[in-house]
Amino acid sequence: MLIKKPDAIRPSELTPEPVYLNRRQFMLGSAGVLLSAEALAASPFSTREKENSWQEITHYNNYYEFGTDKSDPGENAGSLKVRPWQIAVDGEVAHPRHYGIEELLRFAQEERIYRLRCVEGWSMVIPWTGFPLASLLKQVQPTARARYVAFETLLRPSEMPGQREHTLAWPYREGLRIDEAMNPLTLLATGLYGKPLPNQNGAPIRLVVPWKYGFKSIKSIVRIHLMETLPATSWNLANPAEYGFYSNVNPAVDHPRWSQATERRIGEFFKRPTLPFNGYAEQVAALYRGMDLRKNY
Ligand code: MTE
Repeated sequence: MLIKKPDAIRPSELTPEPVYLNRRQFMLGSAGVLLSAEALAASPFSTREKENSWQEITHYNNYYEFGTDKSDPGENAGSLKVRPWQIAVDGEVAHPRHYGIEELLRFAQEERIYRLRCVEGWSMVIPWTGFPLASLLKQVQPTARARYVAFETLLRPSEMPGQREHTLAWPYREGLRIDEAMNPLTLLATGLYGKPLPNQNGAPIRLVVPWKYGFKSIKSIVRIHLMETLPATSWNLANPAEYGFYSNVNPAVDHPRWSQATERRIGEFFKRPTLPFNGYAEQVAALYRGMDLRKNY
């Protein structure tokens, strides 16, 4: 079988939007819930905003393991072998274990349309397929000491040329507080537009935390480690004055070198105001009640 590299797929070969919407209704219908696209978009998990195209989502990326330009991941990530693949889930859990990617793909039945807002001021709307991280964590049963969750990307410089440079401390690391990790908005994504996740978007499995700046949404995960203490994160290690642990989208707090008040949706010309928590305040603002979000940036 000839498997085309994602960047070799012509836009004309991709599902046109009306067909895609029909298929989505069918997919949901087959799960026993008859939902119109309208009802889906009205769910608290999906936005009604216009989705970015496949071309935009897969050719304007941040994935420093494959270079620092937005076009580098689309050009270079084909070298990453995403099978076989395992994730270790360990640390403060009653039942540590390894999950093979085939088992994780069977978890993934939901589709959600989330905004991704990056720290440099651009945003996209992406139809992800995946499952809530909480469903995986519940299986391994966090102990009473589990206060944080640490995530690690694959370390394989032979296939990830960026890891041969000292741009970040490798492997790429991220972390969440346990209640953030258990929030139903926090997704492990395995696909987009109903197709397997392209390598440049974090194949075979990546995190999506829609109310935080994009760098929290770590790609190509091989380890999920539950901890009692605050985990180290790659961007915080690289520049603690600019990147804190929380990194909630906050138009009121500027990045030291630029304003975070507005954003440019990829494909649009005019900027739009950025919403607190990237528009997900109703679902997540309560997690931070009583915290000073200027100090905890
Ligand atoms: N994960 C890894 N392992 N390496 C990275 O460089 N970049 C992050 C995040 N996850 C990154 C990563 C940043 S800065 C952003 S904005 C998002 O991935 C971009 O996701 P996308 O390319 O799928 O839009």
